[in-house]
Amino acid sequence: MKRNFYCANVTEEHIGQKLTVCGWSHSRRDHGGVIFIDLRDREGILQIVFEPEKQEIFKVAEHIRSEFVLCVKGLIRNRPEGTVNPNMVTGKVELVVEELEVLNSSLTLPFEISEHVDVSEELRLKYRYLDLRRPNFQKNFLMRHKVSNEIRNFLNEEGFLEIETPFLTKSTPEGARDFLVPSRIHHGAFFALPQSPQIFKQILMVAGFDKYYQIARCFRDEDLRADRQLEFTQIDLEMSFIDEEDIIDVTERMLKRVFKAALNLDIKTPFERISYADAMLKYGSDKPDTRFEMEIKDFTQELKLCGFSVFSSVISKGGIVRGLCLPNGSQFSRSEIDGFTKFVGEFGAKGLAYMKITDNGAESNIVKYFKDDEIKIIISKLKAAPGDLVVFLADEEKIVAQGLGALRLKIAKEQGLIDKNKFNFLWVIDFPLMEWDKEEQRWQALHHPFTSPKNPDELNKENAGTAKARAYDVVLNGTELGGGSIRIHKSQIQQKVFDILSISQDSAKEKFGFLLDALAYGAPPHGGLALGFDRLCALIAGEESIREVIAFPKTQKAVDPLSNAPSQVNEKQLKELGIKVVIKQAKN
Ligand code: AMO
Ligand code: AMP
Repeated sequence: MKRNFYCANVTEEHIGQKLTVCGWSHSRRDHGGVIFIDLRDREGILQIVFEPEKQEIFKVAEHIRSEFVLCVKGLIRNRPEGTVNPNMVTGKVELVVEELEVLNSSLTLPFEISEHVDVSEELRLKYRYLDLRRPNFQKNFLMRHKVSNEIRNFLNEEGFLEIETPFLTKSTPEGARDFLVPSRIHHGAFFALPQSPQIFKQILMVAGFDKYYQIARCFRDEDLRADRQLEFTQIDLEMSFIDEEDIIDVTERMLKRVFKAALNLDIKTPFERISYADAMLKYGSDKPDTRFEMEIKDFTQELKLCGFSVFSSVISKGGIVRGLCLPNGSQFSRSEIDGFTKFVGEFGAKGLAYMKITDNGAESNIVKYFKDDEIKIIISKLKAAPGDLVVFLADEEKIVAQGLGALRLKIAKEQGLIDKNKFNFLWVIDFPLMEWDKEEQRWQALHHPFTSPKNPDELNKENAGTAKARAYDVVLNGTELGGGSIRIHKSQIQQKVFDILSISQDSAKEKFGFLLDALAYGAPPHGGLALGFDRLCALIAGEESIREVIAFPKTQKAVDPLSNAPSQVNEKQLKELGIKVVIKQAKN
């Protein structure tokens, strides 16, 4: 028998036809001498019926268990009245089996194949092939395929060339640790897996390819989170003879196409733009979630002379005070507020001051230190209403912004203030070029060191802290979806930036001398961007974690329970590579 139909595509249109479908026995019910099986393939489920009159087939059917693989041929008919299932696409029809082939049996499953499985991630990933049989996964991967296809079509139509760049290469700095691959032929030498195709795509511009793209795998040895994997996929692109507006425009049009194809949604373009400084001030984050308001307000000026010494002394030492209004927050108990204090403490905050807003002003242990005017300003600036709770942090800017930004998100999530149906796209622009690394006592590039400064000729060590980058990030619902920049295309300026970043000439030559050399041979002005493809798919699918749109992800502990990677290798292999493993004994 040969399959000629997908289960979920059978509708009332096919009544009276004989079709052959293949799939897995999803569930089975015996009813008054009749056996019903929900047969599942990648498209969905079709009810198949075994009637006792067909004795031989019926006998075989009695032995079918969960996840047996079947091929059946039979007549499509209306389901008898009372058995119609309006929740299923195929809920009005069924296939009466005339021919049956059991293609394979299955062991008893370690967990049920259903939409909502309550099993550990470890177990799910160990049996990923079963996990992936769940209908939502089948849906997610069809969507992922559709999205990458749409992106390829779009970029091809726009005249981009798809070009592959190497995996076995040198380190490309994107701020994470490298994965190293030892060379068998050159003992003691290592390839690095690319953190992104960054350097190679710039070299492709020097080579004259003008518009490049790649759906590229990237490797970063960093701590895993819901939106981070050790290997992930970027939609990576680069263009020559363009400026920021061209990259922004092509990205917006690409995302518009993707959302139309995947969700039949017309997203609004152009996206709003916000400066990095404004994002940090209003949302305490460089990837603000603007699906809800709750804007942070600054009170440094208004409260610098206030009677609350925690605030005035922080301000006198160059710190800042900012506040956030939690709608209906007066209902939070003392211990809940203590919990918030502990939460912001993780960002370095030394406390969390608060006031409950009442009909006549405000109430709390610190209100007595404030003048009526100051309370009025607080209430009006935060647009606080009776019943709200306003909270404040006083500290250096980074701690205040991050602490309040994270608290804003946490409360909004917990209180259900986020409209899950919204897709809020946003460009964050005017990034600082560099930030001061206190630990290392030197400037670090905020993006990567190839990002062009806004005014390259004026840049020097003294003004590095205020210099702006020609960089842009695209943010969706509080997730950094992608980012990019206009690059430095003149080697003298690249050298100047390396100098300010305290990357010595030798070290720059050693690490990316090949890019510096290339820039010296007629590099065109160029720039580009990379979107996190896994993050894009997770957002489209409404999934919390990118693991739900990656077929074979690693666990939070950076292992793959399916293949048991990473694993030890044998002595012979190590010897060939000239590698000796030293295992440190754990201290007692
Ligand atoms: P960046 O480092 O910002 O830029 O990466 C671009 C996008 O890739 C996604 N991303 C990740 N996704 C999953 N797991 C990870 N560990 C991970 N790290 C990053 C994010 C991010 O926005 N070469 C530059 C781009 C350019 O300048 O053109 C780059 O890689 O969605
Ligand atoms: P104290 O005077 O230390 O008892 O603090 C009074 C209130 O101010 C408490 O609610 C503290 O959590 C809060 N507080 C202390 N330090 C800070 C700070 N740096 N920023 C905001 N609130 C603070």
